[in-house]
Amino acid sequence: MNESIAVIGAGMMGSAIIKSLVINGYKGQITAVDFQTQKLDDLKELGIKTCFDNCVATKEADIIFIVVKPGDVGKVLKEINSVVKGKLVISVAATVSLSFLRKNISEAKLVRIMPNLGVMAQASYTAFCCDSNVTVAEKQKIQTLLNMMGLSDEVEEKHMDALTAVSGSGPGYMSIIVEALTYAGLKVGLPRNIALKSAAQTMLGTAKLVLDLKEEPAKIKDMTTTPGGTTIEAIYQIEQSQIRPAMIRAIEEATKKSSQIRERLNIT
Ligand SMILES: NC(=O)c1ccc[n+]([C@@H]2O[C@H](COP(=O)([O-])OP(=O)(O)OC[C@H]3O[C@@H](n4cnc5c(N)ncnc54)[C@H](OP(=O)(O)O)[C@@H]3O)[C@@H](O)[C@H]2O)c1
Repeated sequence: MNESIAVIGAGMMGSAIIKSLVINGYKGQITAVDFQTQKLDDLKELGIKTCFDNCVATKEADIIFIVVKPGDVGKVLKEINSVVKGKLVISVAATVSLSFLRKNISEAKLVRIMPNLGVMAQASYTAFCCDSNVTVAEKQKIQTLLNMMGLSDEVEEKHMDALTAVSGSGPGYMSIIVEALTYAGLKVGLPRNIALKSAAQTMLGTAKLVLDLKEEPAKIKDMTTTPGGTTIEAIYQIEQSQIRPAMIRAIEEATKKSSQIRERLNIT
């Protein structure tokens, strides 16, 4: 792929998207747009073209990522509407619906994605959904780009709020688990660096067992558990903490919040 790409909003997520494309050797021109010179200067060092004008950058691009906060998306769409005919416009903004994008952009190919902070390490899970005029070939292009940031799947738009809750916000909850395991390590006397590294690598290794070796979580649990051993002792304590219902309630509430934010910001 060598289409030119504009990334509008070079904040945490926008610059992580750009860096993932660069790390994967993306051949087309990438232009970053932001208000803040410092953010653009950092990207210039990677050989990225920078610009302060959304309209100019969009005019020159085939694919446009919109990576501003949800409340700023409407303003950006109005600025670029006259220069996006036939182009792929990919909104990264949480909660912003395809119908809102359609209402504000007349003739583009519209896509909504939900990555997570894993993009910073090219280990995101990114869900995407497309407007009906996006072709199969364009979907393949989108997925090629998203796979430079980690793993991706096309989903129906009705699942986007749930995925915002499970994977979009997920690094926040997984950090609590890693932190808790680290503190547990400290409690039983591990050096701080060993406690943190062993906790984080254990989470990564478990994810790889599921994703690469296709092991079921329940089987992994059984594989680590011997009668009367250490794992069952810990599992007995963890199950009493009601961690499962807590996680289910948390995701239910975050899913509801996603649609409430959409209503509040009037981006339905
Ligand atoms: N962070 C995550 O974990 C995550 C996960 C999934 C999806 N997302 C979505 O990604 C989007 C960006 O999030 P973020 O965390 O990267 O936010 P961020 O760090 O605040 O980045 C947004 C950037 O866009 C700039 N900006 C604002 N309005 C602009 C405009 N009209 N034209 C050009 N640039 C403009 C902002 O500049 P100023 O700071 O000067 O306003 C800021 O540098 C959000 O919609 C969010 O829902 C984020």
